[in-house]
Amino acid sequence: MRKPDRDRISEDLSTAASWVENGLCSISMRQQSISRLPSFAQYSLESGGKRVRPFLVRSACTAVGGHPDSALKAACAVEMIHTYSLIHDDLPSMDDDDLRRGKPALHTRSGEKQALLAGDLLLIEAFGELLDTPLGPGRVALMVKRLARAAGPGYLVGGQYMDMYHSSDAGADWIHTMILGKTAAMIRVSLELGALAGGADDDVLEAVSAEGDRLGFLFQLTDDILDQCGSAEEMGKEVLKDTEQGKRNSVSMIGLDEATLKAEEMASSIAAKLMDVRGDWGKVADLALYLPLRRK
Ligand code: IPE
Ligand code: IPE
Ligand code: MG
Ligand code: MG
Ligand code: MG
Repeated sequence: MRKPDRDRISEDLSTAASWVENGLCSISMRQQSISRLPSFAQYSLESGGKRVRPFLVRSACTAVGGHPDSALKAACAVEMIHTYSLIHDDLPSMDDDDLRRGKPALHTRSGEKQALLAGDLLLIEAFGELLDTPLGPGRVALMVKRLARAAGPGYLVGGQYMDMYHSSDAGADWIHTMILGKTAAMIRVSLELGALAGGADDDVLEAVSAEGDRLGFLFQLTDDILDQCGSAEEMGKEVLKDTEQGKRNSVSMIGLDEATLKAEEMASSIAAKLMDVRGDWGKVADLALYLPLRRK
């Protein structure tokens, strides 16, 4: 069985982080603005974060033989939408969290209206960035369509709504749909956009898309495990939130031990499936294997 090399994964994540942060420096939102909003958005964008989704965009692009340059705008777009979702997720009317990425959440630092509107800005600007992808209009249109779907009512926004209104009899299917929406779709679309930027054909795209959903589910599963037994210092956000707020997740459903086992099994199975996809998917497979071991 494949064993994840932690040093190599950290190195690959930090290469992807520098790459996307460089791309985020040149986004155009400042030039068009008539207000201070871009500086608020910039605060959250520059607050760090693991940059897992940009790593996935980049790795999927190179896995199919593409050059990372063609995937940079997509990586920026995905990170901008992810960051908007975190800003809104932390608002007092949502999860009411004051700490994000080891720093005060945007609404704590700059105010609630500022955070709400900075989130809106990032969501819109993400599509502006993606449209600047240096590929033909047909391919870029496919990318825009996939990103809009992932961020829309069937996934991110719909999943966030479900997460805000937990029904007391929520079962495994309900939790699964909620997680596919709120978290997995942005992980899946990161792989899809990277693969599209790299020139993947339909077969590869669909295979990777299916594993992207499972990888996203695994990501949230490990996050919910760390919400139970991780530390706020390492995570850069408050822990024990779901229990405190009476939210259902995979861990509350099946217990910590079974969730830990499930994460390990899913990681091996995703890694094995990815290694069967045409191209060189080793980096993404290694990330899957690393997820159950992560502390942040
Ligand atoms: C946090 O995502 C929100 C979830 C989907 C669990 P990340 O753990 O990727 O957050 P950052 O980007 O590293 O801060
Ligand atoms: C993350 O779910 C979903 C999104 C931000 C879209 P959580 O609410 O559990 O994420 P954390 O724990 O606040 O990072
Ligand atoms: Mg939430
Ligand atoms: Mg939250
Ligand atoms: Mg959480």
